[in-house]
Amino acid sequence: MQHLLDPFRKIAALMLRKKKSAFVRHAAQKDAQQFAALHAEGDFSQSWLQDDFEGFLTDRSVIADVLCDPSRPERLYGFTLSRLAGDEAEILTITLARAVRGRGWSRVLLSHHLSHLTSLGVATLFLEVEDGNRPAMALYQSQGFKVIGKRPAYYRRRDGSQALAVVMRLTLGGF
Ligand SMILES: CC(C)(COP(=O)(O)OP(=O)(O)OC[C@H]1O[C@@H](n2cnc3c(N)ncnc32)[C@H](O)[C@@H]1OP(=O)(O)O)[C@@H](O)C(=O)NCCC(=O)NCCS
Repeated sequence: MQHLLDPFRKIAALMLRKKKSAFVRHAAQKDAQQFAALHAEGDFSQSWLQDDFEGFLTDRSVIADVLCDPSRPERLYGFTLSRLAGDEAEILTITLARAVRGRGWSRVLLSHHLSHLTSLGVATLFLEVEDGNRPAMALYQSQGFKVIGKRPAYYRRRDGSQALAVVMRLTLGGF
């Protein structure tokens, strides 16, 4: 089945590479299926499936924003999720389709998400990122996140090896 899907995936990726612009909107329940497909492209040690994302999208403490095609807003290029706890929040994940990476669009998505969280009264934001994930570290540092700690052997990779998590914090405007 996989080999039958591959040519269609390649065509879809080629079409995606030609896209020139993107915009950010709040996520909707119907985005869960595309979240799962995009998350699978992220090579995360922990896979989240459509059911997991349906759960996140009905959870009032989870804030989700998506990067999408301006002419077809239902077509997603990427997304990010954060969980609120009082005036703090934690970024649970951020990921972009492989075909649109390297264009600076992750900054567009994250900066909108930060404004969204600020508008909800979030004053401090935390995240964990695997040590050595250079695009993610560069993205977070460009938005003002600072390293506040490290967690050894926090991630278990698919090959069984362990990886260090870097813990980062950002102070937002708040109210
Ligand atoms: C992390 C991710 C969202 C970043 O998006 P991206 O499109 O690759 O990166 P962008 O083009 O938006 O650039 C963001 C920054 O990363 C830098 N960058 C991009 N690719 C890089 C690379 N291979 N090595 C080093 N830096 C890189 C850019 O120069 C930019 O830094 P700057 O703001 O200082 O110029 C994307 O790579 C992704 O989806 N990765 C898989 C999922 C993942 O790892 N998510 C993070 C989990 S914590």
